[in-house]
Amino acid sequence: MKILITAGPTREFLDPVRFLSNRSTGKMGFAVATAAAEAGHSVTLVAGPVQLDTPNGVCRLDVVSALEMLDTVQRELPAYDALVMTAAVADWRPKRTAAEKLKKRDMSAVLELEPNPDILKTLLPQKGDRIFVGFAAETGDPLAEASRKLAAKGLDLMVANDVSRPDAGFEVDTNLVTLLMPDNSPVPLPLLNKLEVGRIIVDWLERKKGRTDKA
Ligand code: CTP
Repeated sequence: MKILITAGPTREFLDPVRFLSNRSTGKMGFAVATAAAEAGHSVTLVAGPVQLDTPNGVCRLDVVSALEMLDTVQRELPAYDALVMTAAVADWRPKRTAAEKLKKRDMSAVLELEPNPDILKTLLPQKGDRIFVGFAAETGDPLAEASRKLAAKGLDLMVANDVSRPDAGFEVDTNLVTLLMPDNSPVPLPLLNKLEVGRIIVDWLERKKGRTDKA
């Protein structure tokens, strides 16, 4: 299969030195890319700013902002069988980005923001037979939120993870996830290394592609 994977955070710059972002380190997306390449798939990784080495055999395209990530994914998507969005895309960007570093005296206590596009929703009309996978990093009630997003974003698979635990979600090497699909019961996985979670997602993609090709 040809698999397009996004990973990491995006950065939304206020000026050349300041930005809005989030805690994503990209580890989960790089693990999916590693697992997919190991299984012999052709993999492109669209990476936000992260401190990780490119997995062997993976083509990497670096981006910074949500708008750049959208442009790159939109351009690449037609050539791929599956899109796996592990990236923690910033939902908002500053309304204005200053070309020069802002001075304290020129800044106000209120930051004006505008919404970034939802990449998955924007690309839904181009989905066709492609398999779309999303990730939902949640606190509170991960399954309720993730199943709402599974439907709202028209996904084949939503991977829900509870980021309130110290051994799951951001920065760590392990993850505790539940797989949500439109027509099946949720599949909770035990606490696993992110690479093992990546392998399970790649297995799921292979089986899903097999079923789609037969239908
Ligand atoms: N996502 C996306 N474009 C965005 C934001 C998120 O494609 N602008 C994708 C993420 O890569 C992820 C999925 O949507 O696969 C869920 O991300 P999440 O941030 O949980 O979704 P939001 O719609 O931003 O939900 P919330 O209401 O919790 O902010």
